[in-house]
Amino acid sequence: MIKNTLLPVAEFCQRRSDFIAQMPANSIALISAGKEVTRSNDTEYPFCQSKHFYYLTGFNEPDAILALVKNGQSRSAQSILFSREKDQLQEIWHGRRVGQKQAVIDYQVDSCFNLAEVDEQLLPLIAGKSAVLICQPELTEFQQQVLNWLSQVRKSARSGVKAPKSLIDCSELIDEMRLHKSSAELDIMRQVNVISGAAHQRAMLQTQAGKFEYQIEAELLHEFASNGARYPAYGTIVAGGDNANILHYTDNDDALNNGDLLLIDAGGELAGYAADITRTFPISGKFTEPQALIYQLVLDSQNLAIEAIKPQQTFAELNRLVGGFLTQGLYDLGILTGDLSELLAQKACKKYFIHGLGHWLGLDVHDVGDYHSNQQREQHRPFATGMVMTIEPGIYIPLTDQSVDEKWRGIGVRIEDNIAVTPTGFENLTVNAPKTIAEIETLMSK
Ligand code: GLY
Ligand code: MN
Ligand code: MN
Repeated sequence: MIKNTLLPVAEFCQRRSDFIAQMPANSIALISAGKEVTRSNDTEYPFCQSKHFYYLTGFNEPDAILALVKNGQSRSAQSILFSREKDQLQEIWHGRRVGQKQAVIDYQVDSCFNLAEVDEQLLPLIAGKSAVLICQPELTEFQQQVLNWLSQVRKSARSGVKAPKSLIDCSELIDEMRLHKSSAELDIMRQVNVISGAAHQRAMLQTQAGKFEYQIEAELLHEFASNGARYPAYGTIVAGGDNANILHYTDNDDALNNGDLLLIDAGGELAGYAADITRTFPISGKFTEPQALIYQLVLDSQNLAIEAIKPQQTFAELNRLVGGFLTQGLYDLGILTGDLSELLAQKACKKYFIHGLGHWLGLDVHDVGDYHSNQQREQHRPFATGMVMTIEPGIYIPLTDQSVDEKWRGIGVRIEDNIAVTPTGFENLTVNAPKTIAEIETLMSK
């Protein structure tokens, strides 16, 4: 097991050989690690590894480069890592470095060189290849470096060296691999869901009128970190009352008011993998009648979508189911008015359900992988075993909405679970975050 990965090193080796098998013959792939990002002056944000690089290596240092070299066939391919040199002074100030010798042992690459050797080692490997593969959303700085290597190789053309003719974006190849989770990855995603579910429980128990949203955020972060998910997977949303109607609200600096709902969208990151869970509950511990009606409608729509998940299902079909269900429900509550069949045809719930039903989940919270979307933004990709997604319907009625009865205004509800596709249907990874009205009210009465 590599430190901080929770995955056996064999899994990373397998990923590299699966990737190499898909590379064109006589090509080289160059994948760069992330960079440290300055927060201010001489302080940095906590380092977050480039997820593509991490997926192929498990290596967690900045600035490194992975070169995958495929000559004729996959069998003779090589994985070469370039990493920061051991440096006593730097390590005393900033932390340990793996170094090249240890990297070969721990990460099972064929060789590892320090970054100062990169030109000398890479130029002969690039020369004579037909194609260079890079990840297009890669840092522009690294793309420039690759272009420089290519032009240096071209300069030797007179001595008979052939420079690669094509520069290919290989990010889609890695995206597709990342979309299909192995059983070891699913295990980590189960764990991070349990940690994050416990954080939502803690948040419910600690919620009290008069506290500030950031105090509840602190409870969530405490629960993540003390259980091994040291950082949140994305900016934690703790949105009281009308703040829930701001989809990516992260100010988290208002006081909590009795009578309002609290929407929390928060998930930890464990060994690189994200959880993405939303719960909405009453600050007082007891739903008012209008809040309960909206909440139950969103919950029923979520269950409808989750229970329909199985191989070959599509987001397009789930959207159709949920769109019809929410439109009917909002009409029954008198929130949408007019001709029902017209409302259904127009998917009128979109006025209040203003975001997508879900997204892929994995190393990134909005994970990579094609949705096969058409021009109408319908997503027709058939689900397959091992894919993981969120299902997160919501209804948002801002305080300023004069078109509805006053009792509905300021209610924002989203409920979000993480679901894996199994051979026979689905597995809900979100097992311990209270979700029914009874579960929430029971927990909060303690
Ligand atoms: N937490 C971001 C999202 O739900 O998509
Ligand atoms: Mn989400
Ligand atoms: Mn979310």
